Amino acid sequence: MNKRFIVANLKSNQTQNEVKSWVEQFLKHKDTLDSLEDKEIIICPSFPFLFSFHSAFSGTNIKVGAQNVSPFDKGAYTGEVNAKQIKDFADYVIVGHSERRSNFKEDTEMLSNKIKLSLENNLDPIFCVQNKETPIPDGVNIIAYEPIFAIGSGNPDTPENADAVGAFFKSKKDSYQILYGGSVTSQNVKSFTQKENIDGVLVGGASLEVEELIKIIQNA
Ligand code: PGA
Repeated sequence: MNKRFIVANLKSNQTQNEVKSWVEQFLKHKDTLDSLEDKEIIICPSFPFLFSFHSAFSGTNIKVGAQNVSPFDKGAYTGEVNAKQIKDFADYVIVGHSERRSNFKEDTEMLSNKIKLSLENNLDPIFCVQNKETPIPDGVNIIAYEPIFAIGSGNPDTPENADAVGAFFKSKKDSYQILYGGSVTSQNVKSFTQKENIDGVLVGGASLEVEELIKIIQNA
């Protein structure tokens, strides 16, 4: 049986002190989380905290993901963080989030480069799509369907529609793992993950509250 994914996208939120207390509170549930062998739990902090999360989770089943990766390899790209730098601290990377597409003008070519460099460096990309029309670069295995209206709005898509989008992508390649993202909570998570074509969730705002995230993980 495939594992069910729960990806926490902490976005550009936490400071060092907030990271410290988030991690302390989260690890109070370590034994419970470690016992959930059917779940792949992936926490995605901001770049400055990848090392802290990686160290804090060593010896546990909890994985770390980056929220972004440079479309370039190492070199003269001031301010960029490349896949070679990330790979020592993370197993996954989120690519193509709609916030990056709209705020940072990331286009299909740039996203394909990000995917290529991630794969070359053993980072598993979690590729966000906004609808069925979003092109999927070669090599992607995990697709997160995140309709823009549902992100941070408290207005999730229906599980039926999310399932239909999942089925659409799986009809292209049945090994795709499909996540749903957009206003996921502990109350609605099961309605998505119980669908045949949904393999997990990508959680934004709700992941900032540790106790809510733990419930989401348990209920997923
Ligand atoms: P949200 O964000 O859970 O706050 O809606 C999801 C995301 O943007 O990944």
